[in-house]
Amino acid sequence: MSESLATVSYIGATILFVLSLGGLSNPETSRRGNLYGMIGMTIAVLATVFGPRVSAAGIPWIIAAMVVGGGIGVYAARTVQMTQMPELVALMHSLVGLAAALVGFASYFDPTSTLTGVEKSIHEIEIYIGILIGVVTFTGSLIAFGKLNGKIGGAPLTLPGRHWMNLVGLLVVIYFGGVFMNSHSIADGILPLVVMTVIAGLFGIHMVMAIGGADMPVVVSMLNSYSGWAAAATGFMLSNDLLIVVGALVGSSGAILSYIMCKAMNRSFISVIAGGFGTAGGSTAPKGDALQPAGEVTPISSAETAEMLREAKSVIIVPGYGMAVAQAQHTVYEITKYLREKGVNIRFGIHPVAGRMPGHMNVLLAEAKVPYDIVLEMDELNDDFPKTDVVMVIGANDIVNPGAQDDPNSPIAGMPVLEVWKAKTSIVMKRSMASGYAGVDNPLFYKENNRMLFGDAKKMLDEVLTALKT
Ligand code: TAP
Repeated sequence: MSESLATVSYIGATILFVLSLGGLSNPETSRRGNLYGMIGMTIAVLATVFGPRVSAAGIPWIIAAMVVGGGIGVYAARTVQMTQMPELVALMHSLVGLAAALVGFASYFDPTSTLTGVEKSIHEIEIYIGILIGVVTFTGSLIAFGKLNGKIGGAPLTLPGRHWMNLVGLLVVIYFGGVFMNSHSIADGILPLVVMTVIAGLFGIHMVMAIGGADMPVVVSMLNSYSGWAAAATGFMLSNDLLIVVGALVGSSGAILSYIMCKAMNRSFISVIAGGFGTAGGSTAPKGDALQPAGEVTPISSAETAEMLREAKSVIIVPGYGMAVAQAQHTVYEITKYLREKGVNIRFGIHPVAGRMPGHMNVLLAEAKVPYDIVLEMDELNDDFPKTDVVMVIGANDIVNPGAQDDPNSPIAGMPVLEVWKAKTSIVMKRSMASGYAGVDNPLFYKENNRMLFGDAKKMLDEVLTALKT
């Protein structure tokens, strides 16, 4: 393939990636967006592999690597559960970071490099920064992976003087950057490069360890952004324009997503990164000074739930992580269909951080063919709860916790929540009284107008559907 054909293919792929991102911004166009992305990536890979910069001798190696990588990818895509998606994404980000770091070392040791003077200096800056971003992304994503799958506890690691440690680390990295740039041979440059790599690795670990469980959504999108910048850095090191553009697209869209996440959780981006917010994940009782909700809960049966739904004129369903665990979305759809046919005004309220990844609930509901026009964002229907007869909270907890508004000591204080308790009746479906991801108790459960339907969401909804139909 000639140089000009490769360039045209890269431009075509870039346009397709931009269209892909545009498509992904809306559930209705997201399939098309994905398709654009896939076509763009195919063109990009073909134009690179058969382009002017890969020799014929290298092609079998590339194909072998693609077969191995593709095989692992297909296996992961087929076996991973929807609830394990965030940790898989975190693992993928770590691989982007690792790739950037390895490319950095490879280009530094490249014996065929003929760069001299300013060009050589610029290339060395690219290498130094590329490895730095790559290693931070690599170790940070590995810790995020551990936190998301529960192998590492969700409690923030708040080492004394941690901000000073980070600052000293940054100064050492800058100092060794100078040493690296002034080194006269590859052998001289190895020491500063290795010192920086170790510090970057420790910084990545420390940065994510210091972030509490409740702030993990921001970490996932932030690492997504880092992986984009790592890819862009790789593009600079390899002088590959497409990689620079694609990396910048991922990096900036990830940064925007992190901002949106922070807004959804009422956190300042800087304080999340600085760490120490949030609490232990899991299903433990609350710790610290948060208020302890008091009172009794009122259980309800599936038959009674069906009765309430039958009599309701307006219903809002609030899905959360438990719906994903139970894979209850198809039954949710059946119930929705049935009630809509009976003339009930039924809608879905989606919290921006419901589930374990951005858009988690939207993906599940779209998979179950719930019409997009009844799936609304939190801000679009938070004012409608007082006018609603029944709210069904399906496996959601933190996102409907009134403590976020009422209890300044709550770890999720200030996080906007769906105000389900303002409806005539709310019904919470979950298996036990266990807390959600943020590890805080939920005063909603004890409210007078709240009912608890205990059990696996899929099983209970199947029973509700049967009761509705009989
Ligand atoms: P959570 O607060 O985690 O609550 C989920 C609830 O589902 C649990 O209390 C659990 O109670 C219940 N559950 C689990 N399995 C169930 C099943 N099979 N059937 C019925 N219920 C089941 O979820 P949420 O309300 O969606 O809030 C999301 C939380 O995750 C937030 O704290 C958010 O910050 C965090 N987070 C979000 C993301 C993103 S980007 N969305 C990423 C990481 C973390 P039982 O055990 O009693 O059943």
